[in-house]
Amino acid sequence: MMAGRFPMTRPRRNRVDAATRRLVAENTLSISNLIWPIFFTEGSNTITEVASMPGALRVTLDQLAAHVEPAAKLGIPALALFPVTPSSVRDEVGSEATNPDNLMCRAARLLKREFPDMALIGDVALDPYTSHGHDGLIENDYVTNDASVRVLVQQSVNQAAAGVDIIAPSDMMDGRIGAIREALDAQDMINTRIMSYAAKYASAFYGPFRDALGSGSMLKGDKKTYQMDPANSDEALREVAMDLEEGADMVMVKPGMPYLDIIRRVRDTFSVPTFAYQVSGEYAMLMAAINNGWLDRERAIMESLLAFRRAGANGVLTYFAIEAAQTLRQTYGQ
Ligand code: PBG
Repeated sequence: MMAGRFPMTRPRRNRVDAATRRLVAENTLSISNLIWPIFFTEGSNTITEVASMPGALRVTLDQLAAHVEPAAKLGIPALALFPVTPSSVRDEVGSEATNPDNLMCRAARLLKREFPDMALIGDVALDPYTSHGHDGLIENDYVTNDASVRVLVQQSVNQAAAGVDIIAPSDMMDGRIGAIREALDAQDMINTRIMSYAAKYASAFYGPFRDALGSGSMLKGDKKTYQMDPANSDEALREVAMDLEEGADMVMVKPGMPYLDIIRRVRDTFSVPTFAYQVSGEYAMLMAAINNGWLDRERAIMESLLAFRRAGANGVLTYFAIEAAQTLRQTYGQ
């Protein structure tokens, strides 16, 4: 080998200019991959910022259409709806969850009317409605499974009737996907999709979300008897397999960035539509560093989202959805 001609293979050749880098890029992020989680409240004419999530807003229902308008204009395909229920209507058994005229159902009706092409994803769990902040009913200091599922089923049917297109159970009770599927089918709601929070971990990264909902200070204890142990990975595959067998159309892994390995395993094992949730704590971490000038805002946000695509996710629930879509429009002409 002649001096100066080594090495023959130079991976850097394909990185030498932007055009070549674009040609060889293995993954892309597009607006179609973005799902925007939104918070809304009772009352009128009020918009507040979630303290631990700078830039994330809670809006009253009369402001909701205007709040969502930019997402529709940008072509974001779906919203994930999160009602902030006033503590006055919360009770021990989460009665408000099955009120067909609750905040969630009113928001769904309004959004379906204003934005018929936007897919609405309805979170199903009791934590916005219980005085103890748990996702199910409590019996003998334990979040009970089967009785909770019966309530979640009714909550799901009500949401679907109000216009929710995709039911997203985030409660982690056993058997809830099958029970919800059966109930939807019994109502002829055969095309209502189910996106299961299949591998949802008992994570510290939900803290700011619980602030947003006002359920954080109410939460008694933790959710470790139903959400998964962060130590486990094989168990996530079992959870996904069960939810698919019970009729889930799409599955989700949550949180996102600390669990990219789980997304990859789920994708490789099942080859089904797989979503990731870049949760409130991830958003808060990024925003804290960005606001301190420690990270470049646009680059950090876009890299964090592209990582989910590389890990195998079809799409990402992200509080950065609007900003990311604007960047994709401006920079990549989408
Ligand atoms: C409630 C629910 C949670 C999130 C989505 N649905 C919180 C929890 O399980 O306590 C978290 C979302 C986020 O942190 O952004 N079942």
